[in-house]
Amino acid sequence: MKTTALLFASVLACVGIQPAAAQDCAAWFRSDAPKWEEPQDTRMALFEPDCYAWRLFIALNWPADTAAKVADPNATFGANAPVVWETWRNANNQAPDTAFPMDGSDPGEWLDTSAVAQAPNRFDGADTQPLQREALIDFLKKSGGSVELFDPLSSGRSVNETRLNKETYEFVRHEELYNIEGQIAKFNAGLEKISFPAMAKEVKAQWRVITEADKPRYHWVQAQGAQGMQIYGLTALHITTKDLPNWLWATFEHVDNKIVHDGDATHPPSEGWLLRSVDRFACPQAPYDCEAIPTGIKLEGTHWENYRLRGVQIDFFDSMAGATRLANSQPERTFQTTSSCITCHALASINGAGKRIFFFGPQGGPVGLPVGWDEETGLPLGFRDGDGNLQFTQLDFVWSLFRARSKR
Ligand code: HEC
Repeated sequence: MKTTALLFASVLACVGIQPAAAQDCAAWFRSDAPKWEEPQDTRMALFEPDCYAWRLFIALNWPADTAAKVADPNATFGANAPVVWETWRNANNQAPDTAFPMDGSDPGEWLDTSAVAQAPNRFDGADTQPLQREALIDFLKKSGGSVELFDPLSSGRSVNETRLNKETYEFVRHEELYNIEGQIAKFNAGLEKISFPAMAKEVKAQWRVITEADKPRYHWVQAQGAQGMQIYGLTALHITTKDLPNWLWATFEHVDNKIVHDGDATHPPSEGWLLRSVDRFACPQAPYDCEAIPTGIKLEGTHWENYRLRGVQIDFFDSMAGATRLANSQPERTFQTTSSCITCHALASINGAGKRIFFFGPQGGPVGLPVGWDEETGLPLGFRDGDGNLQFTQLDFVWSLFRARSKR
């Protein structure tokens, strides 16, 4: 018995996981451990992913010391201020704190640019539509599809923001992944895949224009939009972390997203929640879809009490080999029911010609599974040809690398 326990402990130690002596996630919340500290906890991510997602939610939404780009331990969670992830480097090529400059140049030291939380041109129109929606729309245009085409004005109603934390950013810099040539070099060196460090984290946020009256129920910023100065409320937050080799995928939504909306000049379209929410931390009983917030972690009374964890994905399959699905009704709008974060992100790739495995194509269609996935299993396809030769280098699930431009 003792030997087995020791063996188990040493196996866990080998893969860098703390053995059972570590606190479980619920106990961690009850302890006086600093809730603002940006975590890296593979054991919690693996065994208690929903609880760990809330731990990430609190740490990353903690009010920031914007100069140091870290949490401000003296601030109160829920205070109206820029939060930690808003100080991270932006994937938008046109942002002053971009990780991927237009000319493919080195984006500089982590602290070289000040955080532009709440800076005016944060929501510039051109490059703010989620890339996968642009790709879908482009495909539909070519095939004569009938889903709403890209409406430049929509950037005034709903906008998208992707950010990289320090460890993600520094890896991008160190490996020169901030331009296409640096990425192609990985393929030319015969690399099967690249691998970000365990502390790597990224977020993708979506905002929509809200009214003065909505403010108390939202995390909001005031910013220059297509129609001048406007108030934007956070509607969706994707979080991914390298706590696990294939990353942990969590997504949060504002409860108002459940309201179906056709979309008009002031409000983006919303199709409601088409997949069940699953939160084993907030909901006591199977199937864990109570759609409540977890109690006792100090969300009550803050605007964050209006956000829900829609689910966490840590693998392609569940234990009965069923393909897992997860979607956020905002960024995955129009393909919620077939959406799998881990599958689509596994396709992030590059070859010697600078091409990538694409996730929408002729066999897909508006709500069908994109090519590049096996429709039955949800597994990614295309990295090797029939003879086993490498066709693409896998870019470790990081799709924003697709924003890198050519060196000029
Ligand atoms: C059909 C493909 C697809 C699906 C499904 C998808 N994503 Fe993404 N995701 C993308 C693309 C493309 C980007 C790059 C967007 C950009 O830079 O604007 C991205 C960006 C992100 C980012 C920013 C980090 C990065 O990869 O650079 C996060 C975090 C993220 N997605 C999380 C999720 C989560 C969580 C889910 C599931 C709930 C999900 N995604 C589902 C395609 C997808």
